[in-house]
Order: sequence, then C-alpha cells, then structure tokens
Amino acid sequence: PKVNPFVNEPVKSYLPGSPERIELQRELERMKSENIEIPVIIGGKEIKTGNTAACVMPHDHKHVLGHYHKAGRREAVLAIEAALEAKKKWERLPWSSRVAIFLKAAELAAGPWRAKLNAATMLNQSKTFKQAEIDAACELVDFMRFNAHCLSNLYADQPISGLSAWNKTDYRPLEGFVFAVAPFNFTAIGSNLAAAPAICGNTVLLKPASTAVYSAYVVYKLYEAAGLPAGVINFLPGDASEISEVILGHESMSGVHFTGSTKVFQTIWKTVGSQLDSYRTFPRLVGETGGKNFVVVHSSADPKTVAHGLAEGAFEYQGQKCSAASRTYVPKSLWPQVQDALMAEIDKIKIGNVEVFDTFMGAVIDEKSFNNIKGYIQAAKNAEDAKIIAGGGCSGDKGYFVEPTVILTENPHFVTMQEEIFGPVLTVYLYEDEAFEETLKLCDTTSKYGLTGSIFARDPYAIQLANEALTHSAGNFYINVRPTGAVVGQQPFGGARLSGTNDKAGSMLNLLRWLSPRSIKENL
Ligand code: ALA
Repeated sequence: PKVNPFVNEPVKSYLPGSPERIELQRELERMKSENIEIPVIIGGKEIKTGNTAACVMPHDHKHVLGHYHKAGRREAVLAIEAALEAKKKWERLPWSSRVAIFLKAAELAAGPWRAKLNAATMLNQSKTFKQAEIDAACELVDFMRFNAHCLSNLYADQPISGLSAWNKTDYRPLEGFVFAVAPFNFTAIGSNLAAAPAICGNTVLLKPASTAVYSAYVVYKLYEAAGLPAGVINFLPGDASEISEVILGHESMSGVHFTGSTKVFQTIWKTVGSQLDSYRTFPRLVGETGGKNFVVVHSSADPKTVAHGLAEGAFEYQGQKCSAASRTYVPKSLWPQVQDALMAEIDKIKIGNVEVFDTFMGAVIDEKSFNNIKGYIQAAKNAEDAKIIAGGGCSGDKGYFVEPTVILTENPHFVTMQEEIFGPVLTVYLYEDEAFEETLKLCDTTSKYGLTGSIFARDPYAIQLANEALTHSAGNFYINVRPTGAVVGQQPFGGARLSGTNDKAGSMLNLLRWLSPRSIKENL
C-alpha cells in the first residue's frame, strides 16, 4: 500500500472557550489529583519493583503527580528476553501492518489523546500549552506519520529487475534489540526514539528520562491503545547506572538510539567500544547530544527581528531545548537598537505557572539543573569581563524559576560563551562592524558543538559568507529566524561535532539506521 502524502499536524490555538482548551483544562485538573502509580512494563506485563521515586511538577515541586517503580538489573534481563521473544513475530509482520499501528497511534494522539499528552507534558516538564502542543501533539504525530511515509517510499523504491534477474532489496530490522534512551525536554523525541526502530521491525528497551517518566508513560499507554503488541517496546524507568551495564553488555544489543548529554553518549560509545568482541553485530549508535547554539548578527540586520529571534530562541521552554540560542555576536553599531528591542521583549515575558494560558516561561526541570544554571549566573556576577544586563534572579522555593537572563561579555571565550547551560541564559559579545568575517571564524572555533545556529542579515553577501564560514558549525542553520523549532519533514533535525551523529530525527537517514538491507537476486 501507499501511505497518504505527508502533511504536518496543524497547531491548535486554544482560544478561550475553545473545545480544545476546555478539554485540556479538564485533563490538567484530573492529572493533578490522580496520584498514579507507574509500573515497569516488560512484555506487556506490569511489574512493581517497590523501589519507587516521585514524579513532580517543576513549577510546583511539592506537588506529586504520582510515583514510578524503578527497573533494576533483574528487570533489564527480563526486558531483553521479552524484546527478543516479541521480535520473532514483530519482524515477520509485513511493514504495512507495523505502519498501520503507528498511524493509528498518530490518529489517537491527534484526536482523543491530544489533551492527555499535552497536559502530561505541561505538568511533568513545565511546558506552556504552546510548547506542549508543538511537541507532545504535533511533533509526536508528525514523527509517526512521517516515518510511515518514508517507509512507504523506501519499500516502493526497488532495484532494476528483468535484464537477467529478478532483484529485490529486503529491508530487514537489525538482529537483536535496540536500547532507546530518552531526554526530558521533548515528549515527541522520547516517543520517536522508541517508535523509529520499532516501526522498522525492531523491538526496543526504552529508558525514559527520570524527570519525565510521567509523560513517557502516557506515550507508552498511547502505543498500547493503538494495538502495539506486548514486548515491542518495553518501558524501563529508573537509574541508567542500574540497567545500562546489563543492556549494553548483552550480545544481542544491536543499537542505541539516544538523546541527551554529550558526556553520557560518549560513555555509552566507550562502553560499547570496549566490548565490541562480545556483540553479534556492530551496534548502531545514533545520538543527538549537546549544543552551544549561536546567533550571528550582521550590521544589515533588522534589529527588531533580531531581538524577537533572540528572545524566543533563548527563552522559550526556559532555554531547555538542545537547539536554544545561547551565544550571540552583535555588531557594535546595531547593539543599542537590538538591546532596546530585546529588553522590550523580555519585559513582556511572563514567568510562572504553566497552567495559566498567557505564561511564556515555566520552571526549569529540577533542582540539579536549577543549581547548575545559578552557578553560571553567579560566574557572570563575579566576573570582571562580564556583566548581567537583564534578569539574573532565581527562586526555587515553590518551583525552579530562573528569570530570562542576558549576560554581556567582552571576552568571546567567557565560560557562558562556551559551555552548554540548558537554561534561559543568553550571552552577548559585541564586535566591531568591520570584523564580520573574523567574527564568523570566532563563532566557528569557540564551540566544540555543532547543533544549531542563525545568521541575521539583510545583505545577501553577508548571508553567503556566514553560510560558508559556518558550514560545520550547525546541523540546522537558520537565516533571519531563531535557531529552534525544527518541524518534522521540513527541517530534519540534528548536528555533528560533539552534538551527535547527525542522523536527523524525522528523516529517512534515521530510519535507515534501524534497517539492515539484504539484496536478493533470483536468476530468470
Ligand atoms: N527539534 C527541536 C528544535 O528544533 C529540538 O527546537
């Protein structure tokens, strides 16, 4: 069968009194009072290990949404067995039957499950309704529909036959199981880390982020409701240190699908490398990791457009997107106008409870992250070559709130120009207008990452220079727009250097990593 042409799921507006807003509000209230117990799920069976932790709301961290049971070594062993058992039938299904299940999940997520997915993401990860909608509703649905569309094209594209032989490419899943390790910041990314290998016929062990178990569980239940057979995705919340050794040490571990920090992905890579002799295949390692995303401004840019891009790119979702704008290079001549417009943008930002519909920023994810961000702000306060020109305030009593913060530095290598902060902190470096080309070089060499970045300019030659000088500085490069908000099917997402393997989430490139083609020739 051919799958419908891909169309992005439309973003709903949630106007006051709209049915989607009423349903979302009802769901938020229900989830806040429910206090659920989340099990480990292996081969479709719920397991309560008794070793539990709380799921809390970052903007009201004493409010417990529920508790989850942590998987340990024993559950890791059982999950491997369940995944290998489930694979025997799952991989033999026609690709179209697997696709049908994920298209069903997309239909549910776009319709009756939309409010659940959004409410869980708002409460558990402190996203505003807008940020939840583009993630847990639209991007999640887009990933599933786009994967289906890609597989349909892939299977249709067969080698030439009939000269002397009949030829076929059989896109086999990998031999073994896949380990998916999810981040907290995007419900959709976590869902796709498991769904992409699974739709290709693999079975998966999914470890959700400890700070986002609640919404990952809602996604798991969505798959179940769509008819995903038991054991295709096994749900293993808990401490990575407990389960990783068992999972990465198994001979049938055939791939890791990871989004998270560079350091953790490097550790996984080293662990896999150190025991290569013990695997049956070369495991596929696919990772999207850190970033230190830039915004370079040329003197021909429109200051208001720049300021708007900086405010959205640096502060939406509290700067916790891996794509967030975090360092900017502004020409001295343009800075007074950019600064005025940026301060006006910041003045408009409302921080607080994400259940209030005009809030722009909620809380950062947890205390560890809050303290880490505070440390960088303190470093700027203490420094002689940097100063805070907006925000800088942090308050952790009720929720982990950090003000949108702007640091101005004279040092292009100041610590906040180089290290990933994962919070609402933007550092500005001013350059002499005539030093544009040197600044591009500086931008390229300052960071070891290569995830996203933007150039703002009205002069096409400046855009061309930036395009060339920053070729390897960003896997997602934006012109006159913020460096966040990649849309599935429009801007395949991912970066190189220490930002990952750049196997673009939501693309054929990514799906091919979960397939191992077999060429078949039959003599005529
Ligand atoms: N895909 C997300 C974005 O582009 C991370 O903002």
